[in-house]
Amino acid sequence: MAAAGGSRDSGGVLDPSIADHYRSGYERSRLFPGGRPTLEFVRSLELLGRLLPAPPARVLDVGGGPGTYAVPLAEGGYQVHLVDPLPLHVRQAEEAGSFTASVGDARRLDQDGESQDAVVLFGPLYHLTSADDRRLALAEAHRVLRPGGRLMAMAISRCASMLDGLYRDWLDDPVFRAIVDRDLAEGQHRNPDPAGRPEFFTTAYFHTAAGLAGEVGRSGFSDVEVYGVEGPGWPLSREWADSRRHEQILFAARAVETDPSVIGFSHHFIAAATRG
Ligand SMILES: C[S@@+](CC[C@H](N)C(=O)[O-])C[C@H]1O[C@@H](n2cnc3c(N)ncnc32)[C@H](O)[C@@H]1O
Repeated sequence: MAAAGGSRDSGGVLDPSIADHYRSGYERSRLFPGGRPTLEFVRSLELLGRLLPAPPARVLDVGGGPGTYAVPLAEGGYQVHLVDPLPLHVRQAEEAGSFTASVGDARRLDQDGESQDAVVLFGPLYHLTSADDRRLALAEAHRVLRPGGRLMAMAISRCASMLDGLYRDWLDDPVFRAIVDRDLAEGQHRNPDPAGRPEFFTTAYFHTAAGLAGEVGRSGFSDVEVYGVEGPGWPLSREWADSRRHEQILFAARAVETDPSVIGFSHHFIAAATRG
């Protein structure tokens, strides 16, 4: 477990570059620019609504950040507890909704075995850059789930930075091109200039859809299915701002959500699986 050298902000859990990235508290508004929900949020919530057990199931939201999904899940009747290593996020979450929250690490959960109906793991799998650490996080999710419980685990697509760079005209920038080259080759995303270029994101691991399915399956889960979250419309943020375009963009995302030939066009994947 890579705790040595981790940030003090997160009790040594997070790499300092990751803790620095979230220090401003921007994560609270990331998915609601101008107060409007993004395609990522709308589709992720749609998939949660379709694939989680029905409320009032017990949901453990691990890496839940400032409560982005815990808020609507709790409002929908779920019994939610949120876990995140950043005290700032836990405080923001506690302010945001009617659910409980605590500081913790996906690799070492405090919850009892077989105590949860569902685990939402939206964050740890892309911020844990070593395969051993992701294995620990998945093993912990498996341990706390009851038999038949559901895992929903988010990952970032291996192609995300290449597509982002293409659509935003960043691929001519040698710094960004080197980031993309490494992402495509090995999935290890690093930002060499986090202060100057925070939009290049922070330390992360980017999955292929097959790689994500393999990691979840090897952790003892069954019925593993990987969904593309945003679909091919994710670069259309200007069009998404016009609510008349929502139906078309959502139609495209749903139409190819599990199609292996285009799934990598989504910025994010969600793996849904069952604890046998
Ligand atoms: C981009 S935010 C995602 C927040 C929210 N779950 C969402 O999907 O919008 C990633 C979150 O993962 C959390 N995280 C990173 N490593 C973690 C770990 N080892 N255990 C638990 N959470 C972790 C971070 O602190 C951060 O809050």
